[in-house]
Amino acid sequence: MRVALTVNGMRHELELEPRELLVYVLRERLGLTGTNVGCDTSSCGACTVLVSGESVKSCTVLGVQAEGLEITTIEGLARNGELHAVQQAFHDHHALQCGYCTPGMVMAAVSLIESGEATDKAAIRAGLEGNLCRCTGYHNIVEAVAAAAGVT
Ligand code: FES
Ligand code: FES
Repeated sequence: MRVALTVNGMRHELELEPRELLVYVLRERLGLTGTNVGCDTSSCGACTVLVSGESVKSCTVLGVQAEGLEITTIEGLARNGELHAVQQAFHDHHALQCGYCTPGMVMAAVSLIESGEATDKAAIRAGLEGNLCRCTGYHNIVEAVAAAAGVT
């Protein structure tokens, strides 16, 4: 099927098989390997991207369902060589260990903050419950997101 989608501001027209998951379209068709696959079963959040500004686990979406949609991946967050505020906060607060979950965590956090739901650390923990860090680095992740959101 022929599908047109916009990823990080660039329009792409792709010939996709109906069975292809969006995460594999991003990684294997477009080379955007910052979006990780941790489970393939919608449990871990490593594949989280923004679809029309909302966080979505890209292993739960077929590529053909992205027809006409705007997708942002971790590669699309920095602007003019400057890290996004959430990326900078992860750096400043040492909010990663192995880094495997980090792109998904950052994308979920961006959505959480932009939706106004990151009102305090408890809300941040609840908002990120769909993203797993197998290194259990949650404390610093929450500190980073709180700093980016300007809450305590
Ligand atoms: S790879 Fe999508 S939720 Fe784990
Ligand atoms: S930093 Fe290791 S899985 Fe999150």
